[in-house]
Amino acid sequence: MIPVSEPDIGEKEIEYVDDAVRSGWVSSHGKYIDEFEREFSKFIGTEYGLTVSNGTTALHLALSALGIREGDEVIVPDLTFISPVNAVIYCNATPVLCDIDRNNWCIDSGKIEALITPKTRAIIVVQLYGNSADMDKIMEIAKKHKLYVIEDTAESLGTTYKGKRLGSIGDIGCFSFYGNKTMTTGEGGFCTTNNKELYEKMSMLRDHGMTSKKRYWHEFIGYNYRMTNLQAALGVAQLGRINYFIERKHEIGKIYRNKLKNKVTLHPEGGDYNGTYWLYSILLKNGEERDSLMDFLYKNGVDTRRFFYPVHVMPPYGRYSRGKYPVSTDIAERGINLPSSVKLKDEEVEYVCDKIIGFLNSQ
Ligand SMILES: Cc1ncc(COP(=O)(O)O)c(C=O)c1O
Repeated sequence: MIPVSEPDIGEKEIEYVDDAVRSGWVSSHGKYIDEFEREFSKFIGTEYGLTVSNGTTALHLALSALGIREGDEVIVPDLTFISPVNAVIYCNATPVLCDIDRNNWCIDSGKIEALITPKTRAIIVVQLYGNSADMDKIMEIAKKHKLYVIEDTAESLGTTYKGKRLGSIGDIGCFSFYGNKTMTTGEGGFCTTNNKELYEKMSMLRDHGMTSKKRYWHEFIGYNYRMTNLQAALGVAQLGRINYFIERKHEIGKIYRNKLKNKVTLHPEGGDYNGTYWLYSILLKNGEERDSLMDFLYKNGVDTRRFFYPVHVMPPYGRYSRGKYPVSTDIAERGINLPSSVKLKDEEVEYVCDKIIGFLNSQ
């Protein structure tokens, strides 16, 4: 089976994890944590950064540090992996769902202002499938209405918007290093920021709200959202190959683009951004064609994923709907993620394309 994604674990990864285990620093202190925090922040282009246990805790930590609480509203896109929506609910705040933009599949900057109320405190921008939202416009809206911006960059590690890496533009960037991500630490996450106060608040909240100045003195009710030194060892080794991972994703994207153009709606190409195609994705004519193609590919040894469901259609989230979501409904129905692992050979990507073309020609 050609997988949708697969981690690329090399010798350095094994060597560093082995070193971390042997050092005895197996919990959340150790040289790999320090190095990973320093180097990952540098790569993204922020002054501060902290490792956390996963991408969902990164989002919850960010919202908590911003003081999001009961009675607050946070605007989130209707097409997303569910974590950012849940993280808002964990804070007892209300997620307010916004439709997406057909040009980048991220939150529609033109539809945000209509959702702002006196209770709105923040916008979570989910940088979907390697793409970028219209960040200039979103930052302008946030400034005008005094709102915080969290970039959920779990799926767009390495993407640049007007030359800046995503995760460095909003108040806080949140990342996931789950095994299917562009780089992995097994489970793991990261928060980036240029704001020292937010960094210090997040550091305390990550460690039970304990102040670094006085052991066992808790300034806030916090959490244990720490990453281990073992995971960070994997992270340091993976980060050493991040430029190769990004480059390979671009090469895979180019093969799909060249072979599938004029056959299906292709993954959007940014005008203002240089995307990384975390998962190269296409849109079919309708849901029926999409499902039949997925079945056909599966029977031919190719695994794919359907797009996320629009959040507003799922039972726990209907009450967060505000009006209609024509674009997210349409795109969710027609989209599939294609195999995008950096370990794929060119011939395998070409095989996937030939199967898609064969299927379309037989319709
Ligand atoms: C956009 C987005 N946000 C958050 C997450 C959550 O990350 P984690 O699985 O590390 O909690 C994911 C995926 O895993 C994601 O795709």
